Amino acid sequence: MYSNLILRTEGLSKSFILHEQQKHIPSAQNVSLEVKAGKLTALTGASGTGKSSFLKCIYRTYLPTEGAIYYHTDDGEWLDLAKASEREILELRRAEISFVTQFLHCLPRQSTVDVVAKPLLDLGIERIEAKDQAKELLSQIKLPERLWEISPATFSGGEKQRVNLARAMILHPRLLLLDEPTASLDPVSIPRVIEMVRSVKKAGTGILAIFHDQELVKELADFEINLVPTN
Ligand SMILES: Nc1ncnc2c1ncn2[C@@H]1O[C@H](COP(=O)(O)OP(=O)(O)O)[C@@H](O)[C@H]1O
Ligand SMILES: [Mg+2]
Repeated sequence: MYSNLILRTEGLSKSFILHEQQKHIPSAQNVSLEVKAGKLTALTGASGTGKSSFLKCIYRTYLPTEGAIYYHTDDGEWLDLAKASEREILELRRAEISFVTQFLHCLPRQSTVDVVAKPLLDLGIERIEAKDQAKELLSQIKLPERLWEISPATFSGGEKQRVNLARAMILHPRLLLLDEPTASLDPVSIPRVIEMVRSVKKAGTGILAIFHDQELVKELADFEINLVPTN
């Protein structure tokens, strides 16, 4: 496989079984796609076609029902995430794969700098160094300095979402998964988030993204995979 490939899924399917009702709910079916370094692959398709489920399979929140998820690790090896151990998955989430949704989960008393520095602290980087890097990133994304020492819990949707992305970016992940990161934003905040996604691409991260708006797909996507309704 090519060296700029970060991720390649082959025939990935996810179904849910509701045991109580003995029901079988098909979600994403037979999806094969690629994500390349520094490029964005957009997952499109009507609501309910399994886009979010697919992303969760990559992050292994869900175990896929069928298919393979080949991921090119920082060590230069190919690992099938569908078969990887829980330990391997946790390690990848800590160091290489980030996931951003439209909601930032934060604690009311945790400062913005601490929220953004957390992934570095989890990697064992010293507190002062981690905070310095967080501050540098916050100034890069032009988040007003008066907000740095307070909790994002009180921020506007746009400010919160920029912190959310900053936290995912600080690791320079190899793979970034985005599930409608701009869905709840006001029109002024959207260009700022777009700018951040561009800079993540430039830094070489491969991105797999779902956008609520086709305009964003046009603006940011290098490749597009359209999921079709099943059954
Ligand atoms: N945890 C779950 N349990 C049962 N069904 C689910 C679960 N998550 C998603 N689904 C079902 O999978 C299908 C696809 O959902 P989803 O992946 O959220 O689609 P999309 O993101 O494209 O709107 C839907 O029919 C949904 O109800
Ligand atoms: Mg969804």
